[in-house]
Amino acid sequence: MARLAASILSADLARLADEVKLVHADADLIHIDVMDGHFVPPLTIGPPVVAALRRHTDLPLHAHLQVGAPEALVDDLVAARTDAVSFQLEAVADPLPLHRKIRGAGMRTGIAIAPETPATAVTSDLDELDHVIVLAVHPGWAGQPFRREALAKIEELRSEIDRRGLDVDVHVDGGVNLETAALCVNAGADVLVAASAIFGAADPARAARELRRVAGAA
Ligand code: DX5
Ligand code: ZN
Repeated sequence: MARLAASILSADLARLADEVKLVHADADLIHIDVMDGHFVPPLTIGPPVVAALRRHTDLPLHAHLQVGAPEALVDDLVAARTDAVSFQLEAVADPLPLHRKIRGAGMRTGIAIAPETPATAVTSDLDELDHVIVLAVHPGWAGQPFRREALAKIEELRSEIDRRGLDVDVHVDGGVNLETAALCVNAGADVLVAASAIFGAADPARAARELRRVAGAA
């Protein structure tokens, strides 16, 4: 049974606390895309917004860093009471010291891989991770179509994690909707991350409920 992460990238950011409350009963965690205008063209939000959101929800807050210098954000993310952090493998020369720093600060740590990055790029680090995010779209924007090659990566990671008896969650992020959700769960995803399928819907609470049902039933 997979869990659902609501990605606030498509939410009305001026009403963020209310938007998150809409999906409270039907999302298992809140996914926050931190983008710096360098690693990806868009500039979004950062630790001050995580800290503000923390006062309005008990759901785990997961910061997905799409930034060129993720290590610079760790102290502020801890102070904001972020539960989990992921950074892009493509942004760093050596990910292991940063994973250890994030874990040492009391947060869960993980890596995210863009569509061009193969699953094999993270397999040697799996025993240092709590989760891996397989991006099924290019980092930077909500609302892109799901890239089916993500499914093989999810399968590859799931079988390697199981073969080694590790406790690492596989998240799939990007293009997740009622159709692609079942494919992702069947490929072995533990967490489905969705922005526009939830916050772009007329009724976000209902959209989250339906997605979560698919996540649990696939
Ligand atoms: C893309 C982000 C995703 C994005 C997904 O850079 O990492 O989390 O919010 O948006 P949808 O669900 O609309 O594809
Ligand atoms: Zn994301």
